[in-house]
Parts: sequence; C-alpha cells; structure tokens
Amino acid sequence: MNLSQVLYSILLVAVVALGVKLLNWAWLRPRKLQKLLRQQGLNGNSYRPLIGDLKDLISVAKQEQFKPIQFSDDLPPHSFHYFHQIISKYGENCFIWFGPSPKLMITDPQLMREILARPDVFWKPQPDPIGHTVAGGLLFLEGEKWAKHRKIINPAFNTDKLKSMVSVIGLSCSDTIAKWEALVDSKGGGSNSAVEIDVWPFIADLSGDVISRVAFGSSHEQGRRIFELHKEVVKLTLELMQFMSIPGWRFIPTKANRRTKAISEEIRSILTGIINQREKAMERNEAVEGDLLGTLLESSNGEAHSMTVEEVIEECKLFYFAGSDTISVLVIWTMVMLSKHQEWQAKAREEVLQVFRNGHPCYDGLNRLKIVTMILNEVLRMFPSAPLLTRAPTKTVKLGDMTVPIGVELMLLIGEMHHDPIIWGNDVSEFKPERLESGVRGKSGFMPFSFGPRVCIGQNLAMIEAKIMVAMMLQRFSFELSPSYLHAPFLILTLQPQHGVPLLLRKFE
Ligand code: HEM
Repeated sequence: MNLSQVLYSILLVAVVALGVKLLNWAWLRPRKLQKLLRQQGLNGNSYRPLIGDLKDLISVAKQEQFKPIQFSDDLPPHSFHYFHQIISKYGENCFIWFGPSPKLMITDPQLMREILARPDVFWKPQPDPIGHTVAGGLLFLEGEKWAKHRKIINPAFNTDKLKSMVSVIGLSCSDTIAKWEALVDSKGGGSNSAVEIDVWPFIADLSGDVISRVAFGSSHEQGRRIFELHKEVVKLTLELMQFMSIPGWRFIPTKANRRTKAISEEIRSILTGIINQREKAMERNEAVEGDLLGTLLESSNGEAHSMTVEEVIEECKLFYFAGSDTISVLVIWTMVMLSKHQEWQAKAREEVLQVFRNGHPCYDGLNRLKIVTMILNEVLRMFPSAPLLTRAPTKTVKLGDMTVPIGVELMLLIGEMHHDPIIWGNDVSEFKPERLESGVRGKSGFMPFSFGPRVCIGQNLAMIEAKIMVAMMLQRFSFELSPSYLHAPFLILTLQPQHGVPLLLRKFE
C-alpha cells in the first residue's frame, strides 16, 4: 500500500465513523428515546428528523407574538402557545422535540421540587448555545465549580450589601421619574391633566441603569454600554434559536453570528478594562467599592482557588442577563395591573405614603410594605419573568412513575403551573393579590425564583429593586392604561409586552 492509499483509507474510515455518528445523533438515538418514552405511556408528536417540533414551535410563536388578548383570557394558550397546545393535545407529562432532543414537560409542583432539589443529578442541558451566547457564569456551571462560585458570589447579596444598594437604586429611579415629569410638563400635563407615555422603554432602561450601578459603582457609565450591547444580543437570540439544534451552528459566519461575536468581544473588552482598573486599585490598597464587582473580587481574593479574570467577566455578564430583563418585566406588569385595577393602585399608594411619606424609600421601610409585596407576588405568579426552566438527568432516574433516561431533557413549565386552576382555583386568570395575603411560604405551586440549592441568588435584590421602583412611581404619579394599550405578553427569554405599555400619567403636584 502506498502513502496515498493509506491516506485514502484513513479518510474513508473517518467519513464512515462520522456518518455513523450522525446517523445515531439524528435518527437512531431519537427513535430509541421515543420508544422508551412511549412504552411508559408518555405521548408527544412523532420524531421528525433534525427539526422535531422546532419548525411548528417557531411558526406558532410568530403567529401568536403580536396578537393582543383580553385581560380575562387565559395566558398560557397565548404566551406559552406551543407548549400549551401539546399539553392540551397529549395531557400532562407529554414530550416535545427540540431537534433530535426530546423534552419531557413537567407541570406538577411535587415533581418540579424533586428535580430542583437535586442539582447533583439534574444538570442544565449541555451544550446550551443560547446560554453560551448571551451569558455564562454561575447560571451555567455545575458540580464543584458551581459550588465554589456560588460561595464566592453569595456575600455580594447579603443583607448589609443589599442595604447599601437602596440609595443607589433610588438614584436611578429619581432620574427616570425626572424624565417622566419633564415629558408630562412638555406635553402640557399641568393642572392635573394626564399625558400619554409609553413607559416600557423607560423601565427597561431603568433596570439596565440599576444593574450598572449596583454591579459597577463608579464605572456605571461603562456598564451602561454593556447593557445596550446585551439588549442587542437578546434580540438576536430569536434568530439564533431557529438553528440551535444544529451542532456547531454558532460557529458558522452568518450575519447574526458575526454580530453576536462582535458584541461579545466588545462586552469582554469593556469588562476587562473595568476589572483591570479595580485590581490595580486593590493593589494600591485603595478601598474596595461596595458594588457587586468589588465584593466579587474581594471574596474571590480570600478564596484558596479564586476566580480567573475570565470567570469574573462571565459572572459580570450574567448579572446583566439575570438581573435586568427579569426585573423590568416584573415592574412593567405591576404597572399594567395597577393601572387596570385602580383599587389596588390606591391601596398600594396609601401604604407607600404611610411608610415613607414623600421621602426616599429606606431598607427597613421596604420590609413593612405588605400590600406592595402581595401585589408583586401576584404579578410574579401571573407573569413569571422566567416561566420555563430546563434540566437534564446525568443518569437514568426514577421521577414519580416515570423512568427518565439520559438524553431526555426536562422542561419545567413554571408559567403553566402558575396558571393551573387545580392549584389556584377557577379565578386563576384574575389579578387577586389577596390570594397571597398570608405570604408565599407553603404555596408549593409558586416558584418564580426556582427552588432548592440553585434558587435565584438575586431574589432579595430583585424584590428590593421592584419595591423601590413601584413605591417611587406611586409617590409621584397616578397612572391608568391608555386606550391604545394592547395586552400581548409574549415569551422572548422573559415575558415581554409586545406593543409597549402606553399609560396616561398624572403628576402629583
Ligand atoms: C424578578 C427578578 C428575577 C427573577 C424572576 C429571577 C428568577 C430566577 C430563576 C427562575 C432562576 C433559576 C434559573 C435556573 O435554575 O435555570 C434564577 C437564577 C439566578 N438568578 Fe435570578 N431572577 C431575578 C432577578 C435576579 C437578579 C436581580 C440577579 C442578580 C443581579 C439574579 C441572578 C441570578 C443568578 C446568578 C442565578 C443562578 C443561580 C445558580 O444557578 O446558582 N437574578 N433566577
């Protein structure tokens, strides 16, 4: 055999091996998993090579996205469209195909808790192309590395740190309120007349401003640029989602992929600059700033195996991903609900004025806001910012009556569970904060911040932020829905208002 024959044989073996691998990935393995699921009485559409249910899911999403609904309508058929359709067709514990990967849908609170309580067995599905594109860090880590990072990051969210963030958050809110006051004045909104403003872009910017300030303190202006870039990446994700089942797609130089890469590099370079400046300041023994980055660097320095600069960058990117859209949607749906339910707006304002009068909110006072807390919890139930979570078993596991093999992923449909009439009663579609009057403890069907060891690390910060924003707006304005408002909550990573939120704002003189 001469050299070219040897090379040819090697190439042939490689091509055959690749072909077998592809055949297994795209056909044999999905068929085997499908058989295992069906044998247990679980149902779903039959596997369609490569695309599975993705094409239908995207087309239903496109049809539903901008369609307005009535306030009295059930949210899941519109906002969680395809998942809801499949559940209605096949019943609970059915499955759906994301390309060649079957996902079992879970809506039962007990099963969800069982899954979330065992992060050693149920991991985040890997690889996660969207996760890798938009953010990294804690949210996507597993095992010992996750435990180490969680320990380093935890102090950034302790009570003392949260207390110190209250005035910083208030500062950002004052800026937004000043902008609204100027707009109301310029549009002739004096003498108690109302002016229409689409408040959604302002609230989205406000949450970006807050996260920039609490994460980067004095460097928050640079942080704001990261927020702008982050917003653009999130918009690109819908486009990227269509191809996410194709391995390696994110490395193909499409327009969206190239833009995403360029944004990623710019974010990295801004963060590297901020971190380097901080590290130099720490070397000079200058006081560490009490922002998230300062605490991260400080507690990372104290650890035996601290984080690398790369890892700190990923955690900072994650603060934007996890801590901006989630809050802005919580605040915007609260404003929508308080506009629709004027009696609750009046009750909430009365409480805010009783606790703070017209002054700036303080930490202790925020803990006394019982009505505002009930309202925020009811909004989190109706419009959970993160309505679905995914997990993948690392070994074959028993889950209730089911046996779940490796390769089958789990979709925890928090949004569906929050709208289940069996759990919440027949008035599940109504805004009724009184249903959470005695708090959320013991409400096993309420999980907006997840559950178990990987529960949201920022949940206390989130509630503080939302309370301050809502309280300050109630102090300065009364608001109602504009006749041009169209109700269309739709899932794009978080549950967003598709037509903005035009409100009629009235200033308190
Ligand atoms: C209303 C606001 C928020 C909601 C509804 C929310 C919800 C959630 C949920 C459901 C998870 C679990 C995700 C999963 O396991 O797949 C999570 C995790 C996480 N959240 Fe939040 N979040 C909010 C705000 C924040 C804020 C303000 C921050 C920080 C700035 C933050 C940081 C994180 C981090 C780092 C994780 C990963 C925790 C871990 O895996 O150990 N979140 N959040």
